[in-house]
This record gives sequence, structure tokens and C-alpha cells, in this order.
Amino acid sequence: MKTLLALASSPRRNGNSETLLKEFCRGAEEKGWNVEVVHINKLDFRPCQACDACAKDGRCILKDDMQDIYPMVTNSDALVIASPVTFGSLNAQLKMLIDRFQCWWHAKYNLNAPFVPDEPKRQGFFICVGALKRKRYCENAVEIIKVFFHNINHQFAGSLAFRGYDEKGAIKENPDALKEAYEAGKEFVSRVEAIAGE
Ligand SMILES: Cc1cc2nc3c(=O)[nH]c(=O)nc-3n(C[C@H](O)[C@H](O)[C@H](O)COP(=O)(O)O)c2cc1C
Repeated sequence: MKTLLALASSPRRNGNSETLLKEFCRGAEEKGWNVEVVHINKLDFRPCQACDACAKDGRCILKDDMQDIYPMVTNSDALVIASPVTFGSLNAQLKMLIDRFQCWWHAKYNLNAPFVPDEPKRQGFFICVGALKRKRYCENAVEIIKVFFHNINHQFAGSLAFRGYDEKGAIKENPDALKEAYEAGKEFVSRVEAIAGE
């Protein structure tokens, strides 16, 4: 059975981004996939200290909850990330996790030994929700995710960006949005299976 790793970054449980992520994952489960969900806000970890100790073997020396996350990414078949937009970007929890993949940057570019193989290209999907209608905020968030996916050898398979949702759970008032996330989840894992030739 294939595994989808789902990273939820909002501190707000059952908030808008997590609600959409759940729908996306429900779509994946419908297609027979196993889903592992990580709530980044519950992790106990420090930001990257730029110590460069990882330059020698691609491994981070900080002993915290991130040590559980690296193998989860390596061992999954695909990745989906959901974040609220905060100050026109990803939220801090997610950015902190991304920066801790600096060790993977060294593994890929300096050591030529990436933890995720180049081929077949792993796929990654992104979901974000913002309160404001300004498109630029979500676009910023998507650009950062593209850089992250590239660094960890995942192909950016697509994104869903919902704007104009602020109150916790406000997205539930839009059944079309939930359906879109559910359908995107189904399509995403079907695409992964097609790439793998299944
Ligand atoms: C610290 C903070 C900063 C925020 N900054 C933005 C922003 O720059 N643009 C925006 O559209 N919404 C912003 N918001 C609103 C959230 O994106 C919005 O409430 C979203 O629905 C939260 O998703 P969640 O329920 O998954 O946490 C901000 C919220 C917080 C808590």
C-alpha cells in the first residue's frame, strides 16, 4: 500500500487548512492509499542553526522531533502540505521545518547523495488558505513550496489556494472548496500511480 505523508502546519486544529487537507487525504484514502498526518505545531524542534555540520554527511545534528520527520519523508510515496497564509507567506511552523531540510540541500548538491532519488520523480502538492483576497500572498507561499519541493527532489504537482477565509472552519461553508480538495486528492494519487506505471 502506498503512503501519502500529509503535513498540517496550522496551530488551529480543525481550522481551514486542516479541513481542506483532511478532504484531500480522504480522496487519497478512497483510492486505497495509507495517509500519515503530521501536525507540525505539535513537534518539538529548533530552527536551523546554520552550523553546517550537515555538510559532511547530509544529516542534521540537532536531536529533536525532526529526526522522526526525515525518514517519514524518505519512506513516503508522495507529499501534501497545508498551510495558512501568514504575513504573506507560509506560517512560521512550516518555514522552520523547511529550513531544517538544509541538510538535504547538502546531501543533494554537495554530496550528490539525495535521500529521495531523482527518478521516478516524487510528487508534492500544496494547499493554502488566506483571509485576504490578495492573490500575491498565496503566490508567495506557493513559490517557497516550489523551492522546498525542488530541494527534496519532489515535483510540484499543483496547489489549491483559497482566499477570503478567516474564521476557524469558515471553509466548511463552501462545500465546493471541500469537494475540490477531495477531488484533488484523488487525482493526485492517481497521477502518482500513473507515473509509477501502475
Ligand atoms: C499571524 C497571522 C498572520 C496572518 N497573515 C495573513 C496574511 O498575510 N494574509 C492573509 O490572507 N491572511 C492572513 N492571516 C489569516 C489566516 O491566513 C486565515 O485566518 C486562515 O484561514 C487560517 O487558516 P487555519 O484555519 O488553517 O489556521 C493571518 C493569520 C495569522 C494568525
